[in-house]
Amino acid sequence: MQAGRQMLERTAVCRAALYLLAAGVALTSEARWSCPPSCRCNSAALEVNCSGGQFTNVPDGLPREAKLLNLTHNTIKTLVHQQFHTLMQLLHLDLSDNLLVVIEVEAFLGLQGLLTLRLSHNQLKIIPVGAFAGLTNLQLLDISSNEILVLLDFTFSDLAALQFITAADNDLVFISHQTFTGLNSLQELQLDGCNLTAVPTEALTQLSALKTLHFQRLGLATLPNYSFRHLMHLKELVISHCAWLETLSGNSLFGLNLTSLTIKHCNLSAVPYIPLHHLVYLLYLDLSFNPITYIHGNLLGDLLRLQEFHLVGGSLLRIEIGAFRGLEHFRLLNVSRNLLTTLESGAFHSVDSLRALGLDSNPLACDCRLLWVVRRRLYVNFGGRPPACTTSAQLQDWNFLDFSEAELPSLLTCRQPRILNRKRQEARVDQGHTVVFYCSAEGDPVPSVSWLNPQLRPLSPIGRVRALSNGSLEVRYAQPQDSGTYLCVASNAAGNDSLPVSLRVRTFPSSSKNPFRLKGWPTFPSASPGENGDQKLHFDVKTLLIAATIGFVSFFSSVSVCFIFMLFWSKSKGQIKHTATIAYVPRSAVSSSNGGTGNYMETSRFTMKLI
Ligand SMILES: *[C@@H]1O[C@H](CO)[C@@H](O)[C@H](O)[C@H]1NC(C)=O
Ligand SMILES: *[C@@H]1O[C@H](CO)[C@@H](O)[C@H](O)[C@H]1NC(C)=O
Ligand SMILES: *[C@@H]1O[C@H](CO)[C@@H](O)[C@H](O)[C@H]1NC(C)=O
Ligand SMILES: *[C@@H]1O[C@H](CO)[C@@H](O)[C@H](O)[C@H]1NC(C)=O
Ligand SMILES: *[C@@H]1O[C@H](CO)[C@@H](O)[C@H](O)[C@H]1NC(C)=O
Ligand SMILES: *[C@@H]1O[C@H](CO)[C@@H](O)[C@H](O)[C@H]1NC(C)=O
Ligand SMILES: *[C@@H]1O[C@H](CO)[C@@H](O)[C@H](O)[C@H]1NC(C)=O
Ligand SMILES: *[C@@H]1O[C@H](CO)[C@@H](O)[C@H](O)[C@H]1NC(C)=O
Ligand SMILES: *[C@@H]1O[C@H](CO)[C@@H](O)[C@H](O)[C@H]1NC(C)=O
Repeated sequence: MQAGRQMLERTAVCRAALYLLAAGVALTSEARWSCPPSCRCNSAALEVNCSGGQFTNVPDGLPREAKLLNLTHNTIKTLVHQQFHTLMQLLHLDLSDNLLVVIEVEAFLGLQGLLTLRLSHNQLKIIPVGAFAGLTNLQLLDISSNEILVLLDFTFSDLAALQFITAADNDLVFISHQTFTGLNSLQELQLDGCNLTAVPTEALTQLSALKTLHFQRLGLATLPNYSFRHLMHLKELVISHCAWLETLSGNSLFGLNLTSLTIKHCNLSAVPYIPLHHLVYLLYLDLSFNPITYIHGNLLGDLLRLQEFHLVGGSLLRIEIGAFRGLEHFRLLNVSRNLLTTLESGAFHSVDSLRALGLDSNPLACDCRLLWVVRRRLYVNFGGRPPACTTSAQLQDWNFLDFSEAELPSLLTCRQPRILNRKRQEARVDQGHTVVFYCSAEGDPVPSVSWLNPQLRPLSPIGRVRALSNGSLEVRYAQPQDSGTYLCVASNAAGNDSLPVSLRVRTFPSSSKNPFRLKGWPTFPSASPGENGDQKLHFDVKTLLIAATIGFVSFFSSVSVCFIFMLFWSKSKGQIKHTATIAYVPRSAVSSSNGGTGNYMETSRFTMKLI
């Protein structure tokens, strides 16, 4: 206690002494300081504040010792050659919010110590090569919010110590290949707000030390292959507000070893799994505000160190089981403001490692699939917005912190699937037939229906034997090897139900080999070819040939002409024949129905009555 008090007293004395000393220094330097009119000078801190001083030019008579010169909010238009050569001690120069149009070559010559230079919110259209000559220690350069159209070769070549450039909000349309030459220490580059239509790949290759790169408003639809090659040390890439950007080419991120990737406010409709997969050191992935609808299962497993995934404000309908499988360190998922009805614990490698979850503003169905979220609510940070039920009427607008431990299991419930209409389905068909088996089920959530073949392998929605989207199983052109017991399985989060059906396919009798019909041959809608094979069609080959060659109508008319001859002939002979039986074969169903009289289906003969 005693020692403590002594200490306090001593520091108080020291502080008083320091105050006196500082005041003395201030007084003496005030004497030497000539503060220009309309400026405020802080001689203790060696700061000159000429902000808002209505200067149209850089004022004369600035104190030589100044470390900071603030000339913001004036109307300065031009910086001439060696404009600041008297201010050898200057560390910080702020010329933001002026009307700068011209910066002459070597305008800053003499400012060897300058660390920061701010030129934002001016009207610069071009920066001449050599403008930054002599700024050998500059660390930060802000040329944002100007009207710069192109960046020329060697613009920054004198800035060997520069670590940070922001060129946000310019009208940049072109960055020359050698623009960034000499920037050996540059760690962060912001090219936000540019209307570039190509990634300045060549120019970027100069920036071997770059760690962070921000792009905004790139006018691209596809990010081309090898856009960022040679940026070996880049750790963070941010691409945003690219309304046109719809895809990333497979190798677009080739050569990068990122820990953080953001592609937001763009037009991606799918997670770019392939371009990402080599980023095994990635910790942070943000794809927010893209119209992405699915996160598929088992496609992000290569990103084995991933800790955070953000997809806020997308169009997510579903996060599949296994979406984050293999990601052992995964601890934050933010998918708020999407269209998700649920999020199953099976999507994660393990929900135990999850520390933060943004799931609010989704049309969540509150059933047993979300029970895990409620159970882990004490360990998970919801970012101040716990998820809420929106689709269940009785739980409307309840958020997940409102449930008590006791009422949970009865509130968030699922109903096991039950297959409706369990009538035995047994089909015995002949080879070549099509068979459909029905299967529908109810449950909560609505169960998915799938089919297993007799070998218990799942059937896909394509192929000759396929599971239809309405739950039915279709076997087309059944073959003997299709015979067996098929299993319909209805499953949801609460469990499964199954129903066997059986199919027996009979082989064709060996006598009739050809199950196919010839084109132009009559069809037999009521009977299958198997049954029909035995039925003999009675006609003689000559009639068939004649009929087929001259066509039925002409055949018919020739026959009629014959009849008339026969009639006259028989009349003249006195012995009248009143009927004649004609065998024929119709050419096709259509032409025979045009022909009209006979019923070809029953028989291939018809009888005509003569007058
Ligand atoms: C500089 O001067 C302006 C105008 O008087 C004032 O608003 C501003 O706060 C001053 N800035 C600093 C850093 O002192
Ligand atoms: C210069 O003054 C303006 C206005 O007071 C202030 O916003 C700005 O931060 C100052 N710049 C520096 C480098 O202190
Ligand atoms: C960028 O392009 C868009 C569309 O072409 C245009 O509306 C916008 O004015 C441009 N911005 C600049 C800074 O040139
Ligand atoms: C975004 O993509 C969709 C199709 O994927 C397209 O219809 C739309 O026009 C795109 N938007 C822009 C701004 O290009
Ligand atoms: C980009 O690279 C991928 C993978 O090698 C290749 O399939 C694709 O065709 C390339 N795209 C272009 C535009 O070259
Ligand atoms: C990739 O980055 C990680 C750390 O971010 C580093 O440990 C690793 O060595 C880098 N790999 C290569 C090939 O540069
Ligand atoms: C998810 O992102 C939104 C919007 O950026 C933010 O408000 C919310 O706090 C985030 N949630 C979590 C859990 O980080
Ligand atoms: C399912 O679709 C198939 C083919 O479209 C149809 O034959 C079958 O009757 C349908 N099943 C049900 C239950 O609607
Ligand atoms: C159905 O559920 C049982 C346990 O209830 C499980 O063993 C079986 O694997 C499930 N079958 C399918 C196809 O999901």
